[in-house]
Amino acid sequence: MRVRLAYSGARKRMNDICNADWDAFYRPLIGDSKVEAMIKKQQRKPRKHKRNTKHVWSLVVEDKGVKGFAVCEVKRGEGHLIAMYIDPKATGKGYGSALMDRAFDDFRERGVKRVRTETLVKNKGAIRFYERYGFRKKQKLKYMHKFMSWRLVREL
Ligand SMILES: CC(C)(COP(=O)(O)OP(=O)(O)OC[C@H]1O[C@@H](n2cnc3c(N)ncnc32)[C@H](O)[C@@H]1OP(=O)(O)O)[C@@H](O)C(=O)NCCC(=O)NCCS
Repeated sequence: MRVRLAYSGARKRMNDICNADWDAFYRPLIGDSKVEAMIKKQQRKPRKHKRNTKHVWSLVVEDKGVKGFAVCEVKRGEGHLIAMYIDPKATGKGYGSALMDRAFDDFRERGVKRVRTETLVKNKGAIRFYERYGFRKKQKLKYMHKFMSWRLVREL
């Protein structure tokens, strides 16, 4: 497997992975109608992937095709892991860990001392994954699509 900066040809696959994850993992957490509305909205208006810069960049993990992606940002010296999605058929195989390792190399390279991320309070698997990486629950807030979420923070 290898992790590299996302490229324009991977964008559609990244959106498909995101939708497939919502379908597979979020459906039992937030219910059918909300998931279907989110997927429909994203299909109508696909996520806009910004061009990679020093401040915002996307990573893909590849292993005979794109298996997952992460979106990272640095704003006012603070890191933000905006998104992390692995193809539901490929979770639990270390792809998320590979992305996380690379994202943190990139954050360190940019002099970041603190990184935050958000995930649904109900997304216990992802929370376990982030905590294993040294993230700590900081505050509960309404985030993406106004779902109750944890903001998790990792100090570097
Ligand atoms: C969370 C996620 C990014 C982790 O990536 P991954 O490639 O599956 O993770 P890895 O194989 O590197 O590591 C696996 C570890 O993550 C944790 N984990 C991740 N997802 C889990 C789940 N759904 N249930 C239980 N544990 C999970 C476990 O601790 C697991 O360790 P274990 O196998 O020893 O129990 C991935 O599962 C995913 O994309 N999930 C759906 C979307 C999502 O929730 N994204 C994050 C919030 S926006």
